[in-house]
Amino acid sequence: MIDISMTEFLALPESEKVKYINGYAILCAQQFDRAQLDCYCRLADACRRLHRDPAGAELMSGLLPHRVALNFFIQPSSRTFLSFNTAQAFLGMSRMSVRDEKISSISKGESLADSVRTFISYVDLVVMRHHDADAGAVAFWTAMKAHRRLTINGKERPIPIISGGSGARQHPTQALLDIYTLEKSFARVGGIDGKKIMLVGDLKRGRTVRSLSYLMKNYRDVQLYFAAPERYQMKEDILEFLDAHKIPYHKLNSIREGIGNVDAIYMTRIQDEWDKREGDSGHEKAGDDFIFKTEFLKLMKDECYLLHPLPKRDEIEEEVDYVDDHRVVYWRQERNGMWMRVAIIAELFGVDTQILAAAQKVPG
Ligand code: NCD
Repeated sequence: MIDISMTEFLALPESEKVKYINGYAILCAQQFDRAQLDCYCRLADACRRLHRDPAGAELMSGLLPHRVALNFFIQPSSRTFLSFNTAQAFLGMSRMSVRDEKISSISKGESLADSVRTFISYVDLVVMRHHDADAGAVAFWTAMKAHRRLTINGKERPIPIISGGSGARQHPTQALLDIYTLEKSFARVGGIDGKKIMLVGDLKRGRTVRSLSYLMKNYRDVQLYFAAPERYQMKEDILEFLDAHKIPYHKLNSIREGIGNVDAIYMTRIQDEWDKREGDSGHEKAGDDFIFKTEFLKLMKDECYLLHPLPKRDEIEEEVDYVDDHRVVYWRQERNGMWMRVAIIAELFGVDTQILAAAQKVPG
């Protein structure tokens, strides 16, 4: 199924890895087309609706009780880890986790490929967050080459690998839940097509904004606004991708510059973990021009939405958390993430059609 060596596979640009990955793993945002994104959003809605009904929740938990998931997260995580765990529980899967490489055989010098080969001899799904941007690709290649196969709807499949964040490069499932949140927010105003989206903060090392920018190729007439200090501006590879897909973008020196003009504001945290040395304490503060102030709510359009992948620090004034304003959607966004992750796993394991059919019968 994969006829090239790991070294050759790792050397391919992500755009060329896609043809190997599609349908088997979730590693980079470039792998999705518009039809898939629309399907995921519909499926996430169906999961939410089905689970609301006690009989539906019971049906859902009977879909994958024979499958075991491993959540291999050796970088810090709250939301991604917990929402994947909850999603797996909703689908009835057994769950295990490895969260600290110091107490796994990685600390004895085992290679990542050997560790993954071991994991997949016990489990049927690996969700992983790793500081190395290539870790997902290593795991995927290993799963393709290893002998173990699952039979899913009559077809032989390698053990699926899902990236829950790889280095500073990609966070594809976060980008899917961001799309779901944007689509839901814009439901009454024509969806994401034609919208202006401002990304704020550490765009250079923020893997969420990178993955989300890639997904914009699937939408018509979108414009991106990058509000960041010069040292944290979006990297050249993403700008080249946007140019190649004719997606206009504009660099801004403050949130204020774009606030009245855009349809969504996506805040991010300074990713200072990449600068830190042993013993460093404290966090870099966001520059004043890149802090979302409560007063900005008055300057935003009526249909402009405020998102954040979270965790946040000082880049959004605390008061904004508790204002009663339908445009502040970042808390809803984290819950949307759980439903999107149910959808992603359901689709990989071929139980999506059952969920869609059952959800239609749920009243309301
Ligand atoms: C993000 C991440 O890990 O990249 N968190 C998340 O998964 N929601 C964003 C961040 O850490 O700033």
